[in-house]
Amino acid sequence: MSKPSFTLPLQRPQTPATYFKSPFNPSRHLAYHTMPACHTMSELGHEKRGISPIGVSEPFELFTPEAVRLMRNEVLADEVWDNCRFASSIAACQLRGMAPKYAKFVYDAWTNPETLRIVSSIAGVDLVPVMDYEIGHINISVKDKDDADGKTQAAPVVGWHKDSYPFVCVLMLSDATEMKGGETALRIGAGEIMKVRGPQMGSAVVLQGRYIDHIALPSTNTRERITMVTSFRPRDPVVADDSQLLTVRPVSDLNEMYNQWTDYRVELVEERCRRLVKTLRERKHVGRDFDVTGVKGQLAELIKFLQKTADEIVDPAEYKVEDGDEEREQGKESTRMKKRARLA
Ligand SMILES: [Fe+2]
Repeated sequence: MSKPSFTLPLQRPQTPATYFKSPFNPSRHLAYHTMPACHTMSELGHEKRGISPIGVSEPFELFTPEAVRLMRNEVLADEVWDNCRFASSIAACQLRGMAPKYAKFVYDAWTNPETLRIVSSIAGVDLVPVMDYEIGHINISVKDKDDADGKTQAAPVVGWHKDSYPFVCVLMLSDATEMKGGETALRIGAGEIMKVRGPQMGSAVVLQGRYIDHIALPSTNTRERITMVTSFRPRDPVVADDSQLLTVRPVSDLNEMYNQWTDYRVELVEERCRRLVKTLRERKHVGRDFDVTGVKGQLAELIKFLQKTADEIVDPAEYKVEDGDEEREQGKESTRMKKRARLA
């Protein structure tokens, strides 16, 4: 693993995070007050897709300035910079998998029941973070001072893509007061594009990103743009979970992520099996016939889910793409991923 050949002109805290002086407190750190306007999947031309009728929200205030400061302290600290930094063909600098080990405040903020209630109510479906590894993913785009006046546009933070997980909540961690651009563009219907305003610092957007092609448009008039993306899946184990690892595999500590992936997937299967057995016993107890179609259907679903769980675990030894291989074809979910490039 080589060190990056570039340095980012980014101010980072030199002291460790101050978590223990200020643990996450929903009444102090949540700034949410009003349900934002939302665009439905039908409006976006995706009516029959997804796990909720909601496609994307307008920006809404979520965390207070103090919460944002504490989050920045944690995610930009040296230990995160040294241990959690990745680059890929779709993003030049990402920090991943820092919670809870290096980012307890971030972890507590996104797992707090009140935060989950807010995100779920906007998404229109009860959600939980997919797994710890997907709490607080950071995208960083920074420019040199000379570039920050808007004469030069930076490349998009992340290219056109669908996410690997059903829902995301994208939180702005930079001062975006003067920022121009920086919207999220969504592909809707037949080739049309809709733009959703970028959030201000402490504000967030909820997006059903697994089903909608999207891109964060370049921003000007700002030196840094740091966003925190937390990915969610349905809480209810019987609601479909289309999660995959395609876009995250190249930018992850696979040992850690495969562990968490298998853990949550098998736990869901456990719960589905428990419910199936309960129904079987209840039906038998009251003298009903065996439900051939229903049981076979549920078993087929379980097999499919387990097969998907296994298929997504690609052995790192077989996970080789040659240097110089072009970017995967966005939106076609090709498996030609660029070589895993861990910077730290
Ligand atoms: Fe995305």
